[in-house]
Amino acid sequence: MNILITGGCGFVGSSLALNIKQKYPKYEVTALDNLHRNGSELNIPILHEAGINFIQGDVRRPEDLEPLSYDLMIEASAEPSVMAGLNGDDRYLMETNFGGLFNCVRSVLDNNAKLIFLSTSRIFPMSAINGLEYIEEASRYTMKYGHGIAENFPKEGTRSLYGMSKYAGELLIAEYIEMLGLKAIINRCGLLAGKGQFGKTDQGVVTHWAASYIYDKQLSIFGNGKQVRDILNVRDLFRLIDMQIHSFDRFRSELFNIGGGINNSLSIFELDALCKKLIGAKEVPFMPERVLDIKYYVTDNTKIQSYGWSPEISAEETLKEIADWITENKEELKWIFA
Ligand SMILES: NC(=O)c1ccc[n+]([C@@H]2O[C@H](COP(=O)([O-])OP(=O)(O)OC[C@H]3O[C@@H](n4cnc5c(N)ncnc54)[C@H](O)[C@@H]3O)[C@@H](O)[C@H]2O)c1
Repeated sequence: MNILITGGCGFVGSSLALNIKQKYPKYEVTALDNLHRNGSELNIPILHEAGINFIQGDVRRPEDLEPLSYDLMIEASAEPSVMAGLNGDDRYLMETNFGGLFNCVRSVLDNNAKLIFLSTSRIFPMSAINGLEYIEEASRYTMKYGHGIAENFPKEGTRSLYGMSKYAGELLIAEYIEMLGLKAIINRCGLLAGKGQFGKTDQGVVTHWAASYIYDKQLSIFGNGKQVRDILNVRDLFRLIDMQIHSFDRFRSELFNIGGGINNSLSIFELDALCKKLIGAKEVPFMPERVLDIKYYVTDNTKIQSYGWSPEISAEETLKEIADWITENKEELKWIFA
């Protein structure tokens, strides 16, 4: 099998590439990336060493995709920050997340290949999520009814420019499946975490939190800290992608909400307490609520569980894995996190 991973030097793309190559050494795996994300270039030697090809290319440029032939594409390139587009960088966001996806879809059709697209829980409108009824407990919000967000949760309302760019991508794929027979699966992921993530304030919160503890950088809790997210370890995502690659037709044309689920959810408050337990003491002040924040996102994994997948790695294990990775590579990672 010949697999192309766009955004292959990013956190998710490189983790998937390395896991695939490790489990299936005979597969040809190629990572295409324009190295837009700070730190993504650090993955090039790691990928090379594992026998993965690297192509410096840009999904915004159809000519970068045209020469490539492959059986399956994992589309993991993106500007993935929910704050993206608010500071004059909206053109890059739209041209990569939507225009780039279109180029990828065209390339997949030209290759008569298969596509696995990574979408995001941010496609759900903020007002719909914040408008649910919550119980305010000591350290977190809990949903009054149910325990998570399923595929059919309402879509009316605004969702951030990032969320819109990915939702537009989902709609594009749905049309191409129906109209032009595109072979595709959409995984709509909640918060992903694990070692290898170059987290920052607006994206990759678990890594950002752990790194700020380890490098003793200033941190703030925005709002009351009771905002909840479920955390999915990228190695659990690999287990799912592995299943999808190898029994594609069973998942074909379907869209799944994918996440850590209620048992692997943490509020910011609880994440902070775990960092204190695993890494050490630190003062973290409260700040006013931040624009585009949502009170709660926990995945309802019911649909994907019926296909035989559920998360296995706990939020605490994931945090520990990240803290160990940063501690072991403290000098090399200093320029990114410190
Ligand atoms: N990390 C998460 O928590 C999370 C959650 C839900 C969905 N996702 C989705 O997963 C995918 C991967 O996210 P990530 O966390 O690995 O982000 P990342 O920033 O670590 O990786 C994205 C990669 O895409 C590359 N890239 C950006 N613009 C490009 C372009 N025009 N052409 C080619 N490459 C380009 C970047 O250089 C980077 O290496 C994205 O589609 C994102 O929307 C991520």
